[in-house]
Amino acid sequence: MKLLAPSLAIVGALAAWAGVQLFGSGPDAEAVARGRAHVEKTCVGCHPGSQLDVVAARRLDPADRDPMDRFLAGHHVADPALRADVIAYLETRLPAADPES
Ligand code: HEC
Repeated sequence: MKLLAPSLAIVGALAAWAGVQLFGSGPDAEAVARGRAHVEKTCVGCHPGSQLDVVAARRLDPADRDPMDRFLAGHHVADPALRADVIAYLETRLPAADPES
């Protein structure tokens, strides 16, 4: 029992950290959540796991969203608002989006 309290504290800290990573990243958090939902529903069947990151990295450029936007317009995200959400979510998966780096 002596070890339980410290390990619970660690689990709590990790959960808080994960929450910040996923949902607490500022005003775009809702867009990211919508984009993520669409990706999980629509994209992962053809692009499982990190395969999506590999193909996304070919076009994803946070400084210029146009190439990805134009591509996705004809690739399973016809709606422009949803496209912005999907791109926002994919950008969070880029290694460069990691605030630690
Ligand atoms: C029906 C299957 C299918 C679905 C659904 C699908 N894709 Fe693809 N996608 C493909 C195929 C096939 C390729 C070409 C793969 C390759 O070049 O390695 C591709 C390529 C891509 C590329 C690379 C573009 C480039 O410049 O080469 C990206 C980015 C991409 N898909 C993103 C997505 C996203 C985001 C979604 C969900 C909104 C999605 N895909 C849904 C089949 C699919």
